[in-house]
Amino acid sequence: MAEPFDDIFKESRIFGTREALSPHYMPRNLLFRDKQIQEIAKYITPSLRGERGRNLFIYGKTGTGKTSCIKNVVDRIRNLPISKAHISYVNCRIYNSRYRVLHKIVSEYMPVYAKRGYGIVDIYEKLISWIEEDGKVLVIVLDEIDIVRDLDDLIYTLTRANGDMKSGGITIVGISNNVAFKENLDPRSLSTLYENELAFPPYNSNELALILKERAEEGFKKNVIDQASINLAAAIAAKESGDARLALKILSKAGEMAEENGAATISTAEITAAAKSAEEEIAYEVINTLPEHQKLIVYAIALLTIHGSKYKKLSDNGDMYLFSGDVYEKYSSLAKSLEKEPKSARWYRKYISDLDMQGIIMTYESGKGIRGHTKLIKLSYPPEKITESIEKTMSQEA
Ligand SMILES: Nc1ncnc2c1ncn2[C@@H]1O[C@H](COP(=O)(O)OP(=O)(O)OP(=O)(O)O)[C@@H](O)[C@H]1O
Ligand SMILES: [Mg+2]
Repeated sequence: MAEPFDDIFKESRIFGTREALSPHYMPRNLLFRDKQIQEIAKYITPSLRGERGRNLFIYGKTGTGKTSCIKNVVDRIRNLPISKAHISYVNCRIYNSRYRVLHKIVSEYMPVYAKRGYGIVDIYEKLISWIEEDGKVLVIVLDEIDIVRDLDDLIYTLTRANGDMKSGGITIVGISNNVAFKENLDPRSLSTLYENELAFPPYNSNELALILKERAEEGFKKNVIDQASINLAAAIAAKESGDARLALKILSKAGEMAEENGAATISTAEITAAAKSAEEEIAYEVINTLPEHQKLIVYAIALLTIHGSKYKKLSDNGDMYLFSGDVYEKYSSLAKSLEKEPKSARWYRKYISDLDMQGIIMTYESGKGIRGHTKLIKLSYPPEKITESIEKTMSQEA
């Protein structure tokens, strides 16, 4: 019998510096983003001179390098020999409310306030007096800003702070990959946040190929992957969305598959297989980080797709679509069984169009039919895998 731990100290034939393929790795070189980095610098420069800068809103689809570029800029600023400018990077996925954001910033500069228990008013006043003390300018980067629950309150508070301070000021850099979130913002927050805008376009397949090539040189051993396989991974990711994170995920998964098969190189067959599983994995991550009620709606759709519903409609190409009304009923009964108040039909329709926009479901309007005009809904991913992955997170949360 083979010893189960035989492989521990065996060197990988495929991987070199494996972290270079991880999405958290900060590459030294950010290709094709010089213009964006220069633009960010242009907006932030006045703040570095101690003048109150102008707010900036950065947007672009997932995996277009927004976080990497801003972190690159933050690092450069921290290395500058100037004392009055301060920049704070806040990941709103973790700090997702006005309180948490302000608390994080204050405790960064005044660690004595790091412990919990200070009220929002205390924290606010500390921040103001710290900035005013010598006319500092604080640049606050809010990455994934759409996730902040009470964003209008946060923006309002930061704007008011600028009005309250006798010297110094706060500049906001907001970042998001969600184009729809601004529809729910108060017009005042909108005009504050969108003072200046900067777009990050998706990468095309040539650009992705070069990004991948650099990472592959560090991530894999020599001669493990050839140009054809890199080009294929780049082409698949470019066709999907121009997402560099997806492209990297395909590459590292293909590496794992080759290693499992005992192969010495990665072939295009592994790239194709890896692409399929990477895309699904990303979808499940997205679904599992959805807000509660949207997740329940997806769960209802998956259950109805598996177990059938009273009414269903076959489309011309044989796909099965669900009626929006049936999904709403199923969702409501799921919510009640979890002792949660179902959202109104108006919210439900908004959630459905958000899910459509994120590519998790596909919808279309039916013509006049048995149930009048209605929306038809279809899942974009295998329903069994979706229910399995949602049930796993629900049992962890329970
Ligand atoms: N121009 C680039 N050069 C090299 N690597 C890049 C580049 N752009 C993105 N990447 C890599 O792609 C991955 C995703 O990038 P990043 O996290 O910056 O995307 P993002 O736009 O912030 O996405 P999201 O909206 O999902 O947060 C990271 O691993 C990053 O290193
Ligand atoms: Mg990001």
